[in-house]
Amino acid sequence: MSNPPSHDRILIFDTTLRDGEQSPGATLNVEEKLVIAKQLARLGVDIIEAGFPFASPGDFEAVQKIAREVGTENGPTICGLARATKGDIERAGEAIKPAVKGRIHTFLATSDIHMEYKLRKSRAEVLAIAPEMVAYAKTFTNDVEFSPEDAGRSDPEFLYQVLEAAIAAGATTVNIPDTVGYLTPSEFGDLIRGIKANVPNIDQAVISVHGHNDLGLAVANFLEAVKAGARQLECTINGIGERAGNAALEELVMAMHVRRAFYNPFLGRPAESEEPLTNIDTRQIYKTSRLVSNLTGMFVQPNKAIVGANAFAHESGIHQDGVLKNKLTYEIMDATSIGLTDNQIVLGKHSGRNAFRTRLQELGYELDDQALNRAFLRFKELADKKKEITDWDIESIVNDESRQT
Ligand code: KIV
Ligand code: ZN
Repeated sequence: MSNPPSHDRILIFDTTLRDGEQSPGATLNVEEKLVIAKQLARLGVDIIEAGFPFASPGDFEAVQKIAREVGTENGPTICGLARATKGDIERAGEAIKPAVKGRIHTFLATSDIHMEYKLRKSRAEVLAIAPEMVAYAKTFTNDVEFSPEDAGRSDPEFLYQVLEAAIAAGATTVNIPDTVGYLTPSEFGDLIRGIKANVPNIDQAVISVHGHNDLGLAVANFLEAVKAGARQLECTINGIGERAGNAALEELVMAMHVRRAFYNPFLGRPAESEEPLTNIDTRQIYKTSRLVSNLTGMFVQPNKAIVGANAFAHESGIHQDGVLKNKLTYEIMDATSIGLTDNQIVLGKHSGRNAFRTRLQELGYELDDQALNRAFLRFKELADKKKEITDWDIESIVNDESRQT
């Protein structure tokens, strides 16, 4: 296997259900994970990292269920995470088995600090274990991804050796994690360029990147990595994840969508090409964001890029006036491109059940008829007291409703 030809699209690897779920307080049950996985498939992600099967019976069950119900013929690849141990790999192999396309993602730290204090292993040991465990994972599936954890703080020469050995053992994707969100964009770009120049068999694997947002640089780092040759981006909806979170899917996708004339040449295309850079259906972005926020309980800050409540709102008179004359004065993308209705229907006391149901669906809620009736009555009561009902009002009605049932 070789790197995708330069005109291919950038693969989107969504890890909302694995790294995203590692956000403090963001646990999801099996059914909730399945609902999100189905929506991620509608969004068009190429790979869903559905969980860490060895971590708990619930995670195993979720990965297996998603593999069976979402990993269908035309569905995404379903991936399970595994440390570089036989027990983890066996569990991941078992969980992804029902998927038509299943991947094992195995990882082992390569930074001196992780090897010395966490793994208590020498460089020589890590260099031996990585290919051995990749080869073991290959006995379960052809599609094996290897991550040298904390690559961003690893000695590059050692990193090159581990990557070469992992690819020689059969890794089809090598993922470069900035585990602690330490790198700057130019450093991340240089790291990918160094890997391309110094790992002799790198053309036999897809280069992927994974990064955390401790310094708020994860998305910028990935965009530099794309320019340097990365062709898979590991990200989460709303950027949820460990500590300050992971690179946000919606920001990466929309940056490349809105600025495609800038990014096209890095994929070997003419700047003016209209071919999308990813397989994402951007009109599903808002709905997916709301669904993940509602099910994880992770609030999206109002000024969050792309999906925040204020992302398309204009408050100052000068801006409102400009936008009314020509939207492009203060908007670089159309609200409809992420799935918002252009003319936001303002819900109030005159709105009917249909408009209410439609708004609920746009926000990612599917209520049965009884729950819808109860929520609609509460909405009407509130609409008598308030001029305009906001999305937050609607969400609190539905959340109260689900607490009471
Ligand atoms: O941040 C990290 O290094 C990870 C690995 C498991 C890829 O999440
Ligand atoms: Zn991570």
